[in-house]
Amino acid sequence: MRRIFLLIHRPTPSPDFPLKGYASASRRFDVAARVAIAALYTAEGLRRDTTLYIYLADTGKTLTLNADTLGPMKPHEVEVLSLLRSMLADAPIMNLERILDEHIPAGFVKIYLTEKGGKLDTFLGALCRAPGVVVALGGKEDVPPELEKLLVRKGFDLVSLGPFSYLASHCVAFIHMVLDGC
Ligand SMILES: C[S@@+](CC[C@H](N)C(=O)[O-])C[C@H]1O[C@@H](n2cnc3c(N)ncnc32)[C@H](O)[C@@H]1O
Repeated sequence: MRRIFLLIHRPTPSPDFPLKGYASASRRFDVAARVAIAALYTAEGLRRDTTLYIYLADTGKTLTLNADTLGPMKPHEVEVLSLLRSMLADAPIMNLERILDEHIPAGFVKIYLTEKGGKLDTFLGALCRAPGVVVALGGKEDVPPELEKLLVRKGFDLVSLGPFSYLASHCVAFIHMVLDGC
């Protein structure tokens, strides 16, 4: 089982942003759509073992996506973005600490992806043996310090994927690839 928490530190887009020129109109919510595609699709179809939580730090709105939410939708950026947009209107407003407490089963290994973390290799054994893995990461911008502190307090290990700053969607695709290879 995998749980991915995309922690967005940007103004929450309006639920009626236009899809024309969506990158700027959505305040770069296209990043979230790409993370959703990387998190939930494979070449063979949808991942049934993964849930993605998109947490919008400024409003506390949280979008929860899994294979059932996406249904027959194709992994097209605009279609997925359109779904996210429709979810924004009545997204529940939640406290991140509560979400973590309620949605992370005991025994899951928790990692927070950040360039300043330890090397992934040193966590591989634990990740591969765990009954489930929780991954937290930032979106267009890094996770703000107050949420970083919360992640540390909740037992997340800081893990680096390399010396450069990668796109959030690439980080998610890479972590899936590593875990699939366990
Ligand atoms: C596009 S990056 C965020 C902004 C970026 N750090 C910058 O300098 O502009 C998106 C997120 O992916 C994760 N990430 C990016 N590169 C990483 C790396 N080398 N190791 C671990 N996580 C990484 C982090 O969680 C980061 O917040």
